[in-house]
Amino acid sequence: MEKVQIDGRVIVTGATGGIGAVVTRELAAQGCSVIMACRNVAKAEAVREQILARVPQARIEVRPLDLTSLASVRAFAEGLGPEPVGALFNNAGVISRGYSLTADGLENTFSVNYFGPFLLTKLLLPRLPADARIVNMVSLTCRYVRADEQALRPAEKDFSQLGTYARSKLALLHFSLELARRHPELRVNLADPGVVNSGIISMGRWFDPLADVLFRPFIKSPEKGAIPPLAALASEERLGYFVGNRRKEIPARYHDADLERRLWNETERLI
Ligand SMILES: NC(=O)c1ccc[n+]([C@@H]2O[C@H](COP(=O)([O-])OP(=O)(O)OC[C@H]3O[C@@H](n4cnc5c(N)ncnc54)[C@H](OP(=O)(O)O)[C@@H]3O)[C@@H](O)[C@H]2O)c1
Repeated sequence: MEKVQIDGRVIVTGATGGIGAVVTRELAAQGCSVIMACRNVAKAEAVREQILARVPQARIEVRPLDLTSLASVRAFAEGLGPEPVGALFNNAGVISRGYSLTADGLENTFSVNYFGPFLLTKLLLPRLPADARIVNMVSLTCRYVRADEQALRPAEKDFSQLGTYARSKLALLHFSLELARRHPELRVNLADPGVVNSGIISMGRWFDPLADVLFRPFIKSPEKGAIPPLAALASEERLGYFVGNRRKEIPARYHDADLERRLWNETERLI
C-alpha cells in the first residue's frame, strides 16, 4: 500500500468502527496525526485504545462531531485549535431506516452524508494549506439515481432507505466536483469502498440475520474497504475515483457543471 505522507493533522469522520477505524489505524501506523471525529466519544475512545495497543506510537485524538447537527459541526470546526490540518476524510455515513428530520429541519440521511460534510469542509477551507487533501466517501449506488435541488430535502413520500442514501452520496459526489472547480489548488478525490462487511449494511429489517449468514461472509472486510480511501489520501493527484486497487477517472455520467453549481448554491442557502 502507498505510504500516506501528510503535513498536518488528518481528520477522519465516523472513525468508531468499520472502514473509518481501519483508516485511522493505518494512518497512525504510518506516522500521521489523526483526529477521530465521532458522535459517540466513548466508542471512539475504546477504538483509540485498541489502536494504541497495536501501535503504541500512534498520535490520535478523539473529538465530538455529530453530523445530524449543524451546530455540532460548527463547534467541531471552531474547537480544532491552531495546529494545521492537512487532510479531511469525510467517511461517516448512515442509511436511515425511516424518514426523520434533524433539529435543523434536514432529512437525517442527507444531514449525515451530505449537509454535515459540506459544512465541515467549507468551515475548514480557510485553514487548509493549498495542497490539502479532501477525500469524500461515495458509493456504487450513486449510478442508479439523480440528485437535483429538490432531492436535497426529500418529502416523506419520496423517502426510501436505499434511494435516499444513494441520492445523498450522489450529492456528495457533485459537491466534490464543484469544490474541485472552485478550489483547483486542493486535492479533492473520491473513494468507493465496494460492498463491505460493516455496521452500515444492516438494514434494520427482518432479513438481517439471514443476510448475516448468506451475504456477509462473502463481501469485503473493512481492511479491504479501507484500500480505496487510503490510496485517495495518499494521492498527489486530484479528481480521482478510487475503487478496488485502482484510480479511475470520475465517470463522465457524473459531470454536470450547471447542476453542481445549483446544488452548491441551494445547499449554502439551506445551511
Ligand atoms: N459498507 C459498505 O458496503 C459501504 C459501501 C459504500 C460506501 N460506504 C460508505 O463508507 C463509509 C463508512 O461506512 P462503514 O462501512 O465503515 O460503516 P459503519 O461501520 O457503519 O461506519 C459509519 C460511521 O459513521 C458514523 N456516523 C453515523 N452517524 C453519524 C453522525 N450523526 N455523526 C457522526 N458520525 C456518524 C458511525 O458512528 P457510530 O458508531 O456513532 O454509529 C460510524 O463511525 C460511509 O460513508 C458509507 O456510506 C460503505
